[in-house]
Amino acid sequence: MSSENLPQSPESTAGAAQSPAGSGRSSERPRKPRVAVVFGGRSSEHGISVVTAGAVMSALDRSTYDVLPIGITKDGRWALTADDPARMAITDRRVPDVDELAEPAGGAVTLSVDPGNRDVVVGEPGSVPTVLGEVDVVFPMLHGPYGEDGTLQGLLELSGVPYVGAGVLASAIGQDKEYMKRVFTSFGLPVGPYEVVRPREWESDRPAARKRIMEFAAEHGWPLFVKPARGGSSMGITKVEDAAGLDEAIEEARRHDPKFLVESLLRGREIECGVLEFEDGPRASVPAEIPPVTSHDFYDFEAKYIDSAAGLVPAPLTEEQTAEVRRLAVDAFEAASCEGLVRADFFLAEDGTFVINEINTMPGFTPISMYPRMWQESGVSYPELVDRLIQAALNRSTGLR
Ligand SMILES: Nc1ncnc2c1ncn2[C@@H]1O[C@H](COP(=O)(O)OP(=O)(O)O)[C@@H](O)[C@H]1O
Ligand SMILES: [Mg+2]
Repeated sequence: MSSENLPQSPESTAGAAQSPAGSGRSSERPRKPRVAVVFGGRSSEHGISVVTAGAVMSALDRSTYDVLPIGITKDGRWALTADDPARMAITDRRVPDVDELAEPAGGAVTLSVDPGNRDVVVGEPGSVPTVLGEVDVVFPMLHGPYGEDGTLQGLLELSGVPYVGAGVLASAIGQDKEYMKRVFTSFGLPVGPYEVVRPREWESDRPAARKRIMEFAAEHGWPLFVKPARGGSSMGITKVEDAAGLDEAIEEARRHDPKFLVESLLRGREIECGVLEFEDGPRASVPAEIPPVTSHDFYDFEAKYIDSAAGLVPAPLTEEQTAEVRRLAVDAFEAASCEGLVRADFFLAEDGTFVINEINTMPGFTPISMYPRMWQESGVSYPELVDRLIQAALNRSTGLR
């Protein structure tokens, strides 16, 4: 990391460090809000998270914000990284890694859990910790477990630092495909048929769990989708054609999460819709369609990110279908108590009805990802989207809401 790329030193902002942006004495130039972009992390979506954070950092207007890039390594260490978005891109079909961006012997970054202290501290082994100054807002650009699932959000609540996006509960709901479906059902949103197998059942009585799955298959037919309950980016998901493939698919799902789901194949079109919180409440974007993939078995990790499958924006739907899916997307946002943003994913069945597949509280967010593309088409550019999310977080009070 070259010194030019180091985040701004605390001295440069120390003048007004005690007062939040905009509330400094009139003789002082208010310091810019400092945005900590947190990325990487322990989930299988580590690399994509780095790519996304790079895009967000590029889009942040540096005359408005100070940026503090904080990478979380795959083993969970928080490290300061270079403010160098160019190094955070996909190169030769390879996603970047925080370990390559952080200084090997760099100190660990910590955030105080004292809500009265918003300082970010870097602790070098064997030396006095360096206080990097206050953080005004965190942009948790993390996907999957330990980032999008409420755990990081809980830490930020304890720290008293505002953050972009869903809170603890909404994040946890959005990460757990079982509870997500239960919440949707209780709010009247249509979900497809599914069975859940919990770890205790699988460990104590596999024959009973298998029998339940076979009964489900007899009722709904093959193929089945076997999924980890808390996954993402299609990791650990298998489309199983018949009973012979079941055990292997369950093992694969359980490599990602000991709790797994079995779903029937939903035939139809895949439609997505973005929801963004405006001053007057959540609004839905124009919807998009993910065309069926030909080179992959389904919309899996490679199809999603490496080949950046071309989604159709806007989705070719009738006016009624468009209105319906937008209404359902906002309903899903409200049902899960989301904040800031969500991407709601649907299947449009052959009989013309929508079924909600899932929500993503931190959806793919590179400029070519569906969520930003849907908002672009709805008149909100990528930089404006990033800005809106940060402003919404800054305006939101911390603590229970
Ligand atoms: N029940 C299903 N029927 C048909 N396709 C499915 C079903 N479940 C998942 N898929 C396909 O697999 C992809 C990933 O599944 P999803 O539940 O969205 O998991 P993830 O959280 O990993 O994105 C979907 O986008 C869709 O293409
Ligand atoms: Mg999905």
